[in-house]
Amino acid sequence: MEVYKPGIADLLMKASQAGVTNVRVAQANAPEVLEHMLEPGSVHELWVFFPDPWHKTRHHKRRLVSPRFAGLAARVLEQGGLWRLATDWQEYAVVMREVLDGASDDFENVNPGPAATDENPEQGWAPRWDGRILTSFERKATEAGRIPRDLTYRRR
Ligand SMILES: C[S@@+](CC[C@H](N)C(=O)[O-])C[C@H]1O[C@@H](n2cnc3c(N)ncnc32)[C@H](O)[C@@H]1O
Repeated sequence: MEVYKPGIADLLMKASQAGVTNVRVAQANAPEVLEHMLEPGSVHELWVFFPDPWHKTRHHKRRLVSPRFAGLAARVLEQGGLWRLATDWQEYAVVMREVLDGASDDFENVNPGPAATDENPEQGWAPRWDGRILTSFERKATEAGRIPRDLTYRRR
């Protein structure tokens, strides 16, 4: 799911060059896809990697990962299905964790543990998932000194 037309063009070109045929792309707003285009319990895994962080406090309401989006994710994920997330912004990672922990009727943290603190920011995250390919967003973030955080939650 992608709203940005050049991003879709790039994806389709790369898929074509790689000979990939089992891909379906929707030029659509992700929450609307989850709400209207996907059947309940029809998704095996949902991946939200490096969503736009919207740094400014007044823009936080634009962030993709929110209690409402968690409800839509719960709707489409099958029981036992995984929601994988990653972000290179520590503050957003903490928010993601709070949102998902707050939806504990629907989701359990696959990597529970003590929440990260300012003193111990490394603890409480999922290990980097091998299936998550390195994109330019992650590479630039790492070069800028930011540490990508992974989270994995299971649909109850
Ligand atoms: C920071 S990029 C990360 C892209 C990719 N996931 C990665 O890891 O390299 C965020 C992408 O999400 C897209 N996006 C933002 N809001 C969206 C929404 N509501 N629905 C679908 N795509 C969205 C943006 O156009 C942008 O391409």
